[in-house]
Amino acid sequence: MTCFTYRNGQLYAEDVALQDITRAHGTPCYVYSRAGLEANWRAFDQAFAGHDHLVCFAVKANSNLAVLNLLARLGSGFDVVSGGELERVLAAGGDARKVVFSGVGKREDEMQRAIEAGILCFNVESEAELQRLNRVAGKMRRRAPVALRVNPDVDARTHPYISTGLSSSKFGIPIADAPRLYAEAKIMAHVEIVGVDCHIGSQITEVEPFVDALSRVLDLVDELSKQGIVLRHIDTGGGVGIAYRGEQPPTPERYAAALLDLVQRRLHGRALTLLIEPGRAIAGDAGLLLTRVEYLKQIGAKHFAVVDAAMNDLMRPALYDAYHAIQPVRQQSGATEVYEVVGPVCETSDFLGHERALRIAEGDLLAIMDAGAYGMSMSSNYNTRARAAEVIVDGAKMHLAREREQISALFASERSLP
Ligand code: LLP
Repeated sequence: MTCFTYRNGQLYAEDVALQDITRAHGTPCYVYSRAGLEANWRAFDQAFAGHDHLVCFAVKANSNLAVLNLLARLGSGFDVVSGGELERVLAAGGDARKVVFSGVGKREDEMQRAIEAGILCFNVESEAELQRLNRVAGKMRRRAPVALRVNPDVDARTHPYISTGLSSSKFGIPIADAPRLYAEAKIMAHVEIVGVDCHIGSQITEVEPFVDALSRVLDLVDELSKQGIVLRHIDTGGGVGIAYRGEQPPTPERYAAALLDLVQRRLHGRALTLLIEPGRAIAGDAGLLLTRVEYLKQIGAKHFAVVDAAMNDLMRPALYDAYHAIQPVRQQSGATEVYEVVGPVCETSDFLGHERALRIAEGDLLAIMDAGAYGMSMSSNYNTRARAAEVIVDGAKMHLAREREQISALFASERSLP
């Protein structure tokens, strides 16, 4: 969905000029489109409409309470990976019964809180975790719902830092070990087997790795049913990519059609709910980061545009060499110059874009596109920089979803020695 468009040379979010947002809330500032977030969520929900399913938004992609609340109002489930993310979902009005808890390192207190809240499922990533969960639930005289996150050993052909489905990664349980662990879980008094889970990586731009992974998971489902273990759901994880730079990732429709086709052929009418955990494909293109040009400087033949957003605001370029399109908020005609767009942080890796052709002057505003996922949620206070404001545009209205951090709040909890 196109949430951000030019009108008379001015970039708009829905019906609000981005320039007006900076007047009200300054820069750097994340801007999300309500219509974009909702359309992206609905696209997944509708694509799976022919089958019992639940879209569980991956909270790590964008954990702003207002964003979670909008999705909760649509009936979304949530994939969380920490006690903190669970608290955010609950505070945002999310339904605990639609929450799956993933992650390799769940602490006891996090397990306890999630059992108390009554979540849908723990995606268990090791034998040790399974045993701990059984013990924690036992102390509470409860049974914890579990799926084992299996590692199907498929190559998602994405950036190595965000590929999780290979047998060499820290994630999940090797699929060959799963039958033994399911058998172990079956006789545990305080866990209840409800499903199976996998997640092979992120920013995946082909449908085949998802189909390969699901096919292996369905083999496991068959094997388990022979052991008398009947599951209620299959969670196929997240990972559908977006077009940062002309990539052609599968649409939700194509992704769903491929998965549903396989499920229908293989399950022969057995009732199994499908869970999916998209993050990036829901929030990514529905958000951008607004920044102002502070200085233009030239060193040798190189032109630098020093802007007021930095790697602490948007870490993806520094961490993965990720590409984000950079667009002027006000289009200007005339010759462009090729710039390194960099932030003020004291690291050479603090760049937002290399070799961008722009026509800009000091004080101009730029929009770093496709920053709605893994933007604010990965931000930090490095260099004691206050984190950006977040605004959600809803038609012609702007809503401040998070105030810009106050510098004094950054060190308010620090204590000097007596
Ligand atoms: N489920 C699980 C268990 C995950 O680990 C992830 C992402 C997702 C769902 C959501 O995946 P998505 O639909 O967003 O691809 N910071 C990186 C991405 C890390 C993804 C980690 N796991 C980036 O900025 O590209």
